[in-house]
Amino acid sequence: MILLRTCDELRRWCGPPQRRQRPLNFVPTMGALHPGHLSLISSALQTRPSPNGEVLRPRVLVSLFVNPLQFGPREGFVSYPRDLGADCRTAENAGVEALFAPSEQELFPGGESELTRVIPPPSLMGSLCGRSRPGHFEGVATVVARLLALIRPDCLLLGEKDWQQLVILRRVVADLGLAVEVRGCRTWREPDGLAGSSRNRYLSAQERRQAAALPAALRSVRVRLAAGEPLGEPMVQKLRLDLETAGLIVEYADLVDPASLQPLPTLAGGQRLSLLAVAVRCGSTRLIDHLLLMPRLPIVAIDGPAGAGKSTVTRAFAKQMGLIYLDTGAMYRAVTWWVQRHGVDAADAAAIEPLLTGLELSLEGGGDGDLRVLVNGHDVTVAIRDPSVTAQVSAVAAHACVREGLTRQQQAMGEKGGLVAEGRDIGTAVFPHADLKVFLTATVAERARRRALDLEQRGFAVPPLMDLETQIAERDHLDSSRTIAPLRQAEDAVKLITDGMGVEAVIEALVELFRERVPEDAWPES
Ligand code: PAF
Repeated sequence: MILLRTCDELRRWCGPPQRRQRPLNFVPTMGALHPGHLSLISSALQTRPSPNGEVLRPRVLVSLFVNPLQFGPREGFVSYPRDLGADCRTAENAGVEALFAPSEQELFPGGESELTRVIPPPSLMGSLCGRSRPGHFEGVATVVARLLALIRPDCLLLGEKDWQQLVILRRVVADLGLAVEVRGCRTWREPDGLAGSSRNRYLSAQERRQAAALPAALRSVRVRLAAGEPLGEPMVQKLRLDLETAGLIVEYADLVDPASLQPLPTLAGGQRLSLLAVAVRCGSTRLIDHLLLMPRLPIVAIDGPAGAGKSTVTRAFAKQMGLIYLDTGAMYRAVTWWVQRHGVDAADAAAIEPLLTGLELSLEGGGDGDLRVLVNGHDVTVAIRDPSVTAQVSAVAAHACVREGLTRQQQAMGEKGGLVAEGRDIGTAVFPHADLKVFLTATVAERARRRALDLEQRGFAVPPLMDLETQIAERDHLDSSRTIAPLRQAEDAVKLITDGMGVEAVIEALVELFRERVPEDAWPES
């Protein structure tokens, strides 16, 4: 392992991003490395296939800098544990290739007063720890932005333990347009559940025993929820009482939305991921911890106009994440096929409605194999892809009776979660409490080009591009202006414009969004 002390040495070691042979993963720390840091380093060392399928062993760089900007006047900057020799040995044994340990003068040559500062949005800094630690997150954001600018890593790894820090730094990276993936990693815990933290070494033996009451109280929230108690204010009050009874001073115990960090008024009916965050004092040591509460396995909703490549990427994304792929488009196609088979006009809702009672629709496979679509036991997987079905599916899917029937069926299929669905109203109507909503789109010209290619590959006649563009624009208009279930981006959806992106790059973007929304800690232990 190489020890880098200056910004010049660091820049030379990192090299310009475009000339690097292997991905560069970065773990920022303030030293006093403990097993929590080691678990971040071990995530950083993991190989992952790049968008072009190459599997390369990443280089891992750890920074060690006790950042004065993030300490309040009485927050122990001077007494913070510093042992460079021990940290070097620990990092080297863990497989780190370089440790960057600059002096204050090196990182902030003009001194604190001359520093360009990064100020994250007040909405994210004003809750939880931000209330009692003014200036803290600004200090964190400023130093991490400086480090990222120097290093330009491919991936920044942060612990989910410091949840608010993670959310804020994600936002800083996004708002400053820094091309770096931010990966949150599961909290490392002592055998009795206490979350790993450099501060734990300040605890006396008696305080250390007392501190275990924090994870224990959070565990009992989980147990009570599993027993059917609702998550709400009485549950939070009981948690406070448990902590106080154990002799801990509660600074806050708040139920918030994990992305916006804003209080959850009614916990959205216990239907979506929520964060129960706690800060306590144990003697003079401040400890934080949290619970991420996921009422069911995650649901991902991918909406967008026809021809944006939703089904291809959704299928691959589902496979990669081990989620069930609920192809709602195929379900509407199957109904259309059924309507055509009965010789009924696609526009005639009154004639279509009775046909639905005789229709038993199911999706099979979709895991590793291909998804099969069955209508009354009959395999229609290929038949529903016929251009005649494509031409009428929009009209059939516009009828309230069809929409309601299939929405009910899709909601029943999604009760336990663990799925990704794509369509046009998944995030707005079918799964309004989806954990991740993506509006996947591409320009009309791009979609026409893709449609032409697809028709050609499947041996169909290819109309002129202009005609395809007109058809697509008309279909968009029809889909977004229909009275029932119009195509519309959900307010909380992320818009992903896929022009110029290959399928692999789109999948990678989805995986990244998913990891951000559905943190590792929210998953049951394997
Ligand atoms: O989490 C920490 O240790 C620090 O806040 C960080 C991210 C290294 C910035 O100083």
